Amino acid sequence: MRYLTFALAKGRLAKKTMAMFKQIGIQCEEVLDPDTRKLIFVNEELGMRFFLAKPSDVPTYVEYGAADIGIAGKDTLLEEGRNLYEVMDLGFGKCRMCVCGPESAREILKKNEIIRVASKYPNIAKSYFSDKKNQTVEIIKLNGSVELAPIVGLSEVIVDIVETGSTLKENGLTVLEEICPLSARVVVNQVSLRMEHERIRKILTDLDKVLHQ
Ligand code: PRP
Repeated sequence: MRYLTFALAKGRLAKKTMAMFKQIGIQCEEVLDPDTRKLIFVNEELGMRFFLAKPSDVPTYVEYGAADIGIAGKDTLLEEGRNLYEVMDLGFGKCRMCVCGPESAREILKKNEIIRVASKYPNIAKSYFSDKKNQTVEIIKLNGSVELAPIVGLSEVIVDIVETGSTLKENGLTVLEEICPLSARVVVNQVSLRMEHERIRKILTDLDKVLHQ
């Protein structure tokens, strides 16, 4: 039997993903072993393989068919814009993509001036400001701790994930506009969905049962 390969986003979502898989009888705890440097884990009984990847790489593995199934945040899927099927919302990892900044930036946003927007998500930021709001902005790509940008004067606002809101609060920033809600999603390679239809459908049905129990 051909292995069914899963690409899982490393980090925040990994633990919850594995816990959910465990509930449907897919066990591969080794994946979360902090002491191992091994990258790929096989469950021979199930004919499945699992690997953790940088979240933004998960859609790439799935689009090219190196993984049949991927679990990643909606933020990553929107940002990467890969060709794949998004088949299920797992309902965890809930947060929001927002435009944030100091309260004083609220007026600047309304004026339709060219402002600087710092973000780890340049594509999401660009499509929100140019396509949705028809506003020309300068996007500055950062790789983390984006909240720093408006504080030190790199940008007027940021586009970032807000979960509890405590990072914003502790840094004197606030949500100015909401772009979209986010959560963990299951994505499937387009060819795999046809070729491995039965096995994939079973997994999705089982996950759906767990979600609705
Ligand atoms: C994310 C995000 C915010 C924070 C939001 O950052 O970019 O900074 O979490 O969470 P909160 O609303 O609950 O405070 P992450 O921890 O992934 O680190 P990074 O910014 O360095 O990438």
